[in-house]
Amino acid sequence: MKIFKNQKTLKQYISTLNNRTIGFVPTMGALHNGHLSLVKKAKEETDIVICSIFVNPTQFNESSDFDNYPITHQKDISILENADCDVLYLPSNVEDVYLNEVDFSVDLGLLADVMEGEKRPGHFDGVMRVVKLLFEITTPNKAFFGLKDFQQYSVIRKMVKDLKMEIDIVGCEIIREQNGLAMSSRNALLSDNEKIDALVLSDVLKYLQKNCRVGDIRSFLVEGMNELFKVGTPEYLIVAEAETLKPVITLVKDVKYRAFVVSKIGNVRLIDNVEIFI
Ligand code: PAJ
Repeated sequence: MKIFKNQKTLKQYISTLNNRTIGFVPTMGALHNGHLSLVKKAKEETDIVICSIFVNPTQFNESSDFDNYPITHQKDISILENADCDVLYLPSNVEDVYLNEVDFSVDLGLLADVMEGEKRPGHFDGVMRVVKLLFEITTPNKAFFGLKDFQQYSVIRKMVKDLKMEIDIVGCEIIREQNGLAMSSRNALLSDNEKIDALVLSDVLKYLQKNCRVGDIRSFLVEGMNELFKVGTPEYLIVAEAETLKPVITLVKDVKYRAFVVSKIGNVRLIDNVEIFI
């Protein structure tokens, strides 16, 4: 695997690739099987796979979250090498990524106002800023995002559409531990007991998946919230239209829905979601 610490040398390398298709997997490192599944999918669908590891300061709205973000570069490099990743962009400083930034704006509409948009002001602006720059540096044909961060995936699709970027945004299924816990770099910050408490997120989502059908779903949301409060500090439990992310309390036929949850377990903020089949 070729490792580039600055965008200049990476761009020089990319200019030698001619007509080979590029698949791009942006990450913040502390890699696990969730990230790996994106690299595998990119390997299947494109000729050259570029992964980036960059803990992007502009998307953190709590400095403690940024300061505590796990960094495991050596381990990440061997994971990517084992996965046959072709290229790693591991910028040696923030300036290297933000070097050629130009102002832009995308009207996210409701996407900016619900769930993560509401709870983490400025977060998606930071995500869009860095992903746009990373797209400009890596010039991918396809870019791979996990449905674990479903709202982020929706935001990136909207950005690419509005800015008319010719990049195919591929959504990849959520990878879970055998017990159901969605894999996350932040799981490394949980104690053994908190790892057990954290199962409440996927359990509550499974409960909604099992019970939500056409009609009123309020009682299931209340029941789920009660469970979340027993072991953590929930921020939201919402069922929303998958396309618009508009929260709903009544389900109707022929619309796709997903259930979304965020809760703090100890000091760690965890996020998860599932599809609702009606
Ligand atoms: P990060 O949290 O490192 O995630 C990188 C990618 O891995 C995202 O697309 C995320 O949805 C995906 N991912 C994480 N856990 C997953 C799981 N259990 N199953 C499937 N996919 C999973 O998301 C970011 O970084 C950043 O916001 C980034 C896009 C890199 C911009 O800084």
